[in-house]
Amino acid sequence: MKIIPYGRQHITEEDIQAVTNALQSDYLTQGPAIQAFEEAFAQYIGVTYAVAVANGTAALHLSTLALQVKPGEKVITTPITFAASANCVRYCGGEVVFADIDPDTYLLDIRQVRTLLEAAPRGTYQGIIPVDFAGRAVNLEEFRALADEFGLWIIEDACHAPGASFVNSQGETIACGSGKYADLAIFSFHPVKHIACGEGGMITTNDKKLYEKLLTLRTHGITRDVALYQNDLLFANGGADSEEYPGWYMEMQTLGYNYRLTDFQAALGMSQLKRADAGIEKRCAIAAAYTQAFEGKPYIKGQSGVVEGHAYHLYVVEVEDRLGLYNFLKSQGIMAQIHYIPCHLMPYYRQLGWKEGDMPHAEQYYRQCISLPMYPTLTEEEQNYVIQSIEDYASR
Ligand SMILES: Cc1ncc(COP(=O)(O)O)c(C=O)c1O
Repeated sequence: MKIIPYGRQHITEEDIQAVTNALQSDYLTQGPAIQAFEEAFAQYIGVTYAVAVANGTAALHLSTLALQVKPGEKVITTPITFAASANCVRYCGGEVVFADIDPDTYLLDIRQVRTLLEAAPRGTYQGIIPVDFAGRAVNLEEFRALADEFGLWIIEDACHAPGASFVNSQGETIACGSGKYADLAIFSFHPVKHIACGEGGMITTNDKKLYEKLLTLRTHGITRDVALYQNDLLFANGGADSEEYPGWYMEMQTLGYNYRLTDFQAALGMSQLKRADAGIEKRCAIAAAYTQAFEGKPYIKGQSGVVEGHAYHLYVVEVEDRLGLYNFLKSQGIMAQIHYIPCHLMPYYRQLGWKEGDMPHAEQYYRQCISLPMYPTLTEEEQNYVIQSIEDYASR
């Protein structure tokens, strides 16, 4: 039986050639492919700076470090996301506070966030991490206004949403990750994402200071910028008198990590980026076909639907007998997936005090949600087979 996954990468001959070229070049890592990918990605998103990193989780970790999350400080995020969106706060010793989702959009509900902020003394919360879940853009204009009111920063988790956008109150189209409203945005290049590097990630920002901090944190906290050196010239020269710092010299000034992307991964990302818009076009066509097929069906309790600017990393439907449908689809070779088990109910977060009933909308969503196959190479025939299989299950 042919297996139809919920998501998969698309690798072309051109991609293979790009990786081969990188493998045959002088640099496997720390070479020119990194900067080329960063510049191309920044241009694609419409942002000033982009920092390539090892994966989306590293991007989140460096972002919370750059924004100086300290032990005990509180940061708000959604429970319907991959655990990394919350875990990055814990890496810095911060406290994760979940706020419920809007059941209509499946995104962090700004009303719930406001309620939390208004109930606490000023300064209790440091930041907000909204997630463009499934590829649907969060309205960050509204979140920015709220964040400014309470003096908070914003990290946009745009892992699902390169190429997605929303329209602001001025009628402008705002791309996810463009940094117009968020301080930092992060992306992942895992194989099921829009752009695949195997593993990979990116941080985008318009803030030069944060950008420079991220570059250093990505590579052990080391700088080679003469203007920033803290040790004196005589020491750097091993005691010999000279007007210049010697060629070998560098300084580790803060505690950083090795979160670098390799050049052959960057070459793959760069090649994939060329097809990013075509991929979204295909994803939108698949979403439109699902929406049309399920519209008005009594067994469909909710669905992603057709939303302007949606990048459709996932297509979610809600059904009452989710377990039954999941198992039936599996028996038909269709590997649907669940996004997500609410983060606050993971044993790790339960140990920190979270419990069932804390996030009623997220928990209700989790009981019913199932992500259907969604990727650019899904054929019309395969999609019709998915739709027919769901119909077959519902009419048993
Ligand atoms: C919303 C979200 N945030 C963060 C991540 C972490 O990205 P990565 O798997 O590249 O570390 C993912 C990817 O799985 C994700 O879906």
